[in-house]
Amino acid sequence: MNRRLLVTGGAGFIGANFVHHWCQVYPDDRVVVLDALTYAGNRLNLALVEGRENFRFVQGDICDRTIIDELLLTENIDTIAHFAAESHVDRSILGPAAFVQTNVVGTFTLLEAFRQHWEIKAQPSDYRFLHVSTDEVYGSLGADDPAFCETTPYAPNSPYSASKAGSDHLVRAYYHTYQLPTIITNCSNNYGPYQFPEKLIPLMCINTLIGKPLPVYGDGKNVRDWLYVGDHCLALDVVINRGEPGETYNIGGNNEVENINLVQLLCQMMDELASDLPVHPAKQLITFVKDRQGHDRRYAINANKIKTQLGWTPSVTIAEGLRLTVEWYLNHRDWWEPLLSAEYQAYYRKNYSVK
Ligand code: NAD
Ligand code: DAU
Repeated sequence: MNRRLLVTGGAGFIGANFVHHWCQVYPDDRVVVLDALTYAGNRLNLALVEGRENFRFVQGDICDRTIIDELLLTENIDTIAHFAAESHVDRSILGPAAFVQTNVVGTFTLLEAFRQHWEIKAQPSDYRFLHVSTDEVYGSLGADDPAFCETTPYAPNSPYSASKAGSDHLVRAYYHTYQLPTIITNCSNNYGPYQFPEKLIPLMCINTLIGKPLPVYGDGKNVRDWLYVGDHCLALDVVINRGEPGETYNIGGNNEVENINLVQLLCQMMDELASDLPVHPAKQLITFVKDRQGHDRRYAINANKIKTQLGWTPSVTIAEGLRLTVEWYLNHRDWWEPLLSAEYQAYYRKNYSVK
């Protein structure tokens, strides 16, 4: 089947990597990106595919029903890959309203539009609504707790994760009530090219390059599971093509690392790979700061379901992935320098002055 995809949030970090992947692997598929180009969206992230016959970019908001209806109809969309979201936990603590609007209301608006479109087309069984979600909906783990699996009860702790949990519930309900062919994925922390500088790994790379302190929250012993973004995109491909409607799949890298260890590893790599660091060795920049409010202690993913049922497994090790990422930020100064804008500086001051 040649799919006709609507990719929401395709100008963001994971969305853009997914669009690159899809256009390369399925060049005959139609890919339409709908993205509001918020502070986190960047048209340059799609430069590799702009101009292709089967690709179209539309600037617009997922809360705007008119634009969604028009795209579903005129582009004859059969698959939605839904990435668009407010995605940063710290920003959700500073200002939660946008998170409820985009993540909950926006997802609801897309679901309603897609349901109507699917019903008008006589409910084709090969239509798909892929909802890209997060492991943060499951809450926080203690050191000895088993990893999150698909049946772990939801216990979101931040406005971000609560808004994603709300959207997950809506997606699930649309399958249960209307049999709309939805699938949910809950993934751990991604890293790789095109990630906005506010997130831990790009922030540490960039601050090292410009000689700014490397702010580590609390005692630095919070644990995250890290997955290279290319492996996440491969998992989403498998889920779209072989996943069961109504199901949820957890996706993770089986790479649990304490934040402080990750930052130290990044510093070593920067020392090795960057020739003219303003502060050398980079670890001198590490600064412990006040903890994030409500900071989840540990996330870990049990990805057995997607491995055994769909045959996906991550292929990039954390050492390889971090190296690729560090090299990408070293070689793409022209990409990240403009992102350290007045908006970013204002956010930075606000976030780190209260810490
Ligand atoms: P991102 O912040 O880099 O990108 C989000 C994109 O959505 C941006 O291009 C932005 O312009 C767009 N957007 C925001 N509001 C919009 C709106 N109202 N209408 C249209 N577009 C809008 O996010 P990301 O890190 O690429 O995450 C993508 C998705 O994956 C999110 O749903 C997130 O919850 C989920 N996720 C992220 C991670 C991670 O580690 N980054 C892990 C698991 C799941
Ligand atoms: O788990 C998946 C989630 O991962 C996604 O759903 C989110 O969209 C994504 O942003 C990410 O959330 P985190 O809060 O885990 O990512 P972040 O990069 O913001 O932080 C990673 C860890 O590093 C976390 O424990 C907080 C810590 N941290 C972060 C920043 C930005 C610091 O110690 N210092 C920092 O400056």
